[in-house]
Amino acid sequence: MQAEQENIWGKLVSHSPEHKPEHKVVGFGVSDAKKSVQPSGLDKLRIEGGHALEGEIPISGAKNAALKIMCASLLTSEPLTLTNMPVTLNDIKTLAHLLKHIGVSIMARHDKTAVLHAHTIETPVAPYDLVRKMRGSILVLGPLLARHGFAEVSLPGGCAIGARPVDFHIKGLEAMGAEILIEDGYIKAKTNGGLKGATYTFPKVSHTGTENLMMAATLAQGTTLLKNAAREPEVVNLAECLRSMGAQITGEGTDTIIIEGVTSLGGATHAIMPDRIETGTWMIASALTGGTLRLVNTNLGYLTSLIAPLEKAGLTIETEGKDIIVSRNPGRLVGTDIMTDPYPGFPTDLQAQFLTMLTLCEGAGMVTETIFENRFMHVPELCRMGADITVQGNSAIVRGVAKLKGAEVMATDLRASASLVLAALVAEGTTTINRIYHLDRGYEDIVGKLGNCGAHIERV
Ligand code: UD1
Repeated sequence: MQAEQENIWGKLVSHSPEHKPEHKVVGFGVSDAKKSVQPSGLDKLRIEGGHALEGEIPISGAKNAALKIMCASLLTSEPLTLTNMPVTLNDIKTLAHLLKHIGVSIMARHDKTAVLHAHTIETPVAPYDLVRKMRGSILVLGPLLARHGFAEVSLPGGCAIGARPVDFHIKGLEAMGAEILIEDGYIKAKTNGGLKGATYTFPKVSHTGTENLMMAATLAQGTTLLKNAAREPEVVNLAECLRSMGAQITGEGTDTIIIEGVTSLGGATHAIMPDRIETGTWMIASALTGGTLRLVNTNLGYLTSLIAPLEKAGLTIETEGKDIIVSRNPGRLVGTDIMTDPYPGFPTDLQAQFLTMLTLCEGAGMVTETIFENRFMHVPELCRMGADITVQGNSAIVRGVAKLKGAEVMATDLRASASLVLAALVAEGTTTINRIYHLDRGYEDIVGKLGNCGAHIERV
């Protein structure tokens, strides 16, 4: 076993578990032996379509759980050790830089363990330059306010998939006694002697909102009730981590979460759950390209809303321990309808990928997006590859075509980029996907993982 491994955030650290998390985040250098080029945001992906995917894909830790759980490190002065971390993702590195700015020591290793130590809060300010790169940065607000009693976090602003306001986060914290001012593009929040337990009912289910308020409530005085809360597995994974840190939480995974505030939290070791969106993306890849894929170390239980539409379309799905094995049935895929909804409904983060699959189905399928108002940006690009799609309001009608054709395309957000990769894997000829920095935000080693299963894919 290697005694020393490169700290992918810049330092060499011992592989032994006794290391001290004293090194702060300083830049990034990937050392993936398989890659001849260092990944860069300006890279493109070139994919030659038409090759069935056969083999195994290891599923990474979930970005959308890891980001929130990293913010939980702000709640304690003791180290938080996280395993199964998707340490190479750009979103994870972006948040690491913000946490470093706040005063957190972070060390990450190639065995996908990260240790975060917020011994003291050096500054409770999350500046625009760091927050604008990733909306998830808003998740530092609740923990900072709970532990430090004061926080200034830049408003994240809109993004390609919609306006994405944060008013529920603000109203929930106000219900817990915080005084909040929106000034100069910042959320300026303070408490008078700490947060107080309160009841807050979300007007609409909010994934990030639930997580921010749940973290804040762990250190509030008294009991907090979050009603109409998000039920996503990532919320459950965060609650499990907080509980190992000493928090008193019940009801996670239901629409009512109860948090009994405690005076302090301690360090813990916690495993990040497998990425259900990555899992679903590769399940759809198998449906599109044919072949048999084994998705290693994941959980089909997180994807119940995807099983029925994929089976109806013509995919066989089996499980073996923590692995999922998928293979396409003989004949053409069949069109089917889906509508996105908060968990356990169909995830908005798999909508673009599913829509791509429908472009090659027999008959037609309808995709309705209920979470975000502008999440069909992949449609014009898919049409350039020969798809037949009509968008009407928040629905897209997809009429199956016999084949897609390779083209030069560009993606506008993370999951839209993934949908273009899927289209390219099955299209006739070569597709070049621009702006793949979106993919680097949320999919680890996409070239290695797909290339190992027979895809003709390269970074150029
Ligand atoms: C959403 C998804 C999440 C996904 C993530 C990334 C849902 C419920 N959430 O989470 O699964 O991983 O996108 O793509 O499917 N809203 C407000 N005010 C707020 C907060 C939210 O009006 O303060 C609205 C949003 O505009 C949106 C809806 O509530 O229409 C759900 O938003 P929310 O769940 O908070 O979004 P994310 O946390 O980004």
